[in-house]
Amino acid sequence: MDIKTYGVVGSGQMGSGIAQVAAMSGVDVIMNDIKQDFLDVGMGYIKKSLERIVKKGKMTEADMNAVLGRITTTVDLKDMGKADYVIEAATENEEIKYDIFRRLDEICTPDIILGTNTSSIPIGRIAAETKRPEKVIGMHFMHPVPVMKLVEVICGIATSEETFQVTWDLSEKFGKTPARANDFPGFISNRILMPMINEAVFALFQGIGSREDIDTVMKLGMNHPMGPLELADLIGLDTCLAIMETLHDGFKDSKYRPCSLLRKYVEAGWLGRKTGRGFYEYE
Ligand code: CAA
Repeated sequence: MDIKTYGVVGSGQMGSGIAQVAAMSGVDVIMNDIKQDFLDVGMGYIKKSLERIVKKGKMTEADMNAVLGRITTTVDLKDMGKADYVIEAATENEEIKYDIFRRLDEICTPDIILGTNTSSIPIGRIAAETKRPEKVIGMHFMHPVPVMKLVEVICGIATSEETFQVTWDLSEKFGKTPARANDFPGFISNRILMPMINEAVFALFQGIGSREDIDTVMKLGMNHPMGPLELADLIGLDTCLAIMETLHDGFKDSKYRPCSLLRKYVEAGWLGRKTGRGFYEYE
């Protein structure tokens, strides 16, 4: 299947990153969000990221402009009807995602695959909102999307092998290495990553170590590029909490209970880098 136009719903840190890597691979991208302001912020992220790549000498300015020229923005979801493949990268909220999928199912012709970048909501549940469950799949990028090599491809119970293969091939076209996961809460990535982050929050909560010491142990002792608390700030503490809730609800196992300190931070609006404060403070 030749994907010439890729539709991206959502222009936040994930949606804009996905739009960027798609455009860098040579496909045309239509990026949608509910407000032009959000789209402008997303385009700002993309420009900044591309300028970084140009500065490194890994891309010419002309190529950067060509990449930017391949991305169009729209506040009208109906424009997704022009895309050959659509990925949803909206906020990690089940009702919002279900609504988007119900609307995309009306807008896009039945042959179009609808992917989701959800980090933990079951693919089968999202697929059930559509009349094309065999064409619904998880295409889960990692943050920061331009840098991270992985795409986790998640098949729901009804996802067809053809849908899987198209998504796998598209991930490779975008310069990523795909890995296949089945549809269980958190898939592979967050089933393993989030309990580690949650445990780091417990370690902080119980006074086992300071934020710096916890992060230093994992960075220097385990060679992780970032400590778990720094990483939580990068991902967003609201997202971390939402994923822990999904694991807890999905498995009904108390080992996945979110640490109450994580919940407290989220309630205080300390969501990490995006709000200027999480476990650390940012400019
Ligand atoms: N756009 C383009 N390039 C970027 C970039 C961006 N947004 N951010 C970083 N880079 C580039 C830098 O220019 C640099 O390039 P070179 O190697 O060519 O010099 C390279 O990436 C490394 O960046 P920095 O030197 O600025 O910083 P660093 O070495 O500390 O790396 C990091 C930063 C890549 C974020 C690294 O710390 C890291 O890998 N952290 C872990 C990230 C991670 O675990 N992500 C997954 C989160 S989980 C998730 O996303 C899934 C989910 O469902 C929650």
